[in-house]
Amino acid sequence: MKQQLENILNSALAEINCAKTSEDVENIKLNYLSRKGTLNSIKKNLKDLSVEDKRIVGSFANEVAQTLEAKLADKSAEIYRAELAQKLENEKIDVTLSGTAHHEGHLNPLTSTINEIVEIFQGLGFSVMENENSPELETEYVNFDMLNFPPDHPAKDMQDTFYSTVAPNVILRSQTSGAQIREMLVKKPPISVICPGRVYRCEAVSARKNNLFHQIEGLLVDTNITFGDLKGVLNEFIRVYFGEARPTRFRSSYFPFTEPSAEVDVQCIMCGGKGCRVCSGTGWLEVLGSGMVHVNVLKNVGIDPEVYSGFAFGMGVERLAMLKYAIDDIRLFFNNDIRFLKQF
Ligand code: DAH
Repeated sequence: MKQQLENILNSALAEINCAKTSEDVENIKLNYLSRKGTLNSIKKNLKDLSVEDKRIVGSFANEVAQTLEAKLADKSAEIYRAELAQKLENEKIDVTLSGTAHHEGHLNPLTSTINEIVEIFQGLGFSVMENENSPELETEYVNFDMLNFPPDHPAKDMQDTFYSTVAPNVILRSQTSGAQIREMLVKKPPISVICPGRVYRCEAVSARKNNLFHQIEGLLVDTNITFGDLKGVLNEFIRVYFGEARPTRFRSSYFPFTEPSAEVDVQCIMCGGKGCRVCSGTGWLEVLGSGMVHVNVLKNVGIDPEVYSGFAFGMGVERLAMLKYAIDDIRLFFNNDIRFLKQF
C-alpha cells in the first residue's frame, strides 16, 4: 500500500511538473486530492490494516497529501505569474507610436469675420439683436416703407429685390436695415444693437457679387446722440478691425433712412493710398454706409425725434473679409472648397 502511495505521489508530481494552465492544476487537484480522488480511495482501505500499519500508512498518506498540496500551490502561483506576464505583454501600448491624424473642421472665414466684428462692437457697448427681430423673410413694408423709402420711389431700385410668389409684399430682405425698425418697435431708447444676418439681391453672380451675402447692421438711439458719436464709433471699429490707425474719410451720401448720410472709406490697405487695381486708382476703399437716423423713421416707430436722436450703419461682411484677407472672388466663400477654407 505504501508502494501504491509512492506511485501516486510520483505520477502526481510528474503531472504537476507538466501542468501549463490553471485548468491543468485544478484537474490534478480533482483527480488526486478531492473526496473522490485517488488518495482518498486508498485511505478507505486503511481499515483493513493492523493498528501499527494503519498508523504508518495513514501518516504517509497525509504526508503525500501535504506534499501534493504544497506543490500544487507553488505551481498555481507560477502559472498565475506567467499568465499575468503574458496578458501584460499582449496589452502593451507603444506610446511612441504616431497617432491617427484627424481632419479638424474650422470656421468659414465669413463666420470668423462676423464673430470678430460682433466682438469689436460688443466691446463698444453694443449687444446682438435677438433673432426674432431680424427675419430673412421680410415684408416690403418693413424692408422699405418704414425705412422712409417713398412708395414707387426710384430709391427702391437701389436694390434688386427677390419678391415672394406665395404672399403679396413678402420679400427676401435686401438689407438688414429692417431689423432697426423691428428693434425700435419693441424696445425703448437707449438702444444700442448690432444685427448680423443674410441678405438677398437679385443680381447676376460674378467675382464681386453674389445674390446671397451678409451684412451687419448697427443702431444706436439715445438722447443727445450726434454725428460726432457716429464718427467716433466707426473710426474705432475700423482701427481695431484693420489693425492699425488708418486714415478714414466720411463721404456725403444718400440713404432714405438716414439724414445726413455718409459712406465711410478707409485708405486702401493694398497700396496705402497710392492707387491700385483694388481701389480703382482712388486710394480709398468704401467699407460701410451710415448716417443719423431719419426723423421720419423715428416717427414711424413712435420714438419722439424731439427727445431722441440716433445713428445707424450697415456693412457688407464679404467685402470686409475680402479686403482684410485679400480674397478676390466672393464666390469662394460659398463653394466650400477645402483648399480655400484651409487657409483661414
Ligand atoms: N442698408 C444699406 C445697404 O444695404 C446700408 C446702410 C447704409 C445701412 C446706411 C445703414 C445706414 O444702417 O445708416 O446698402
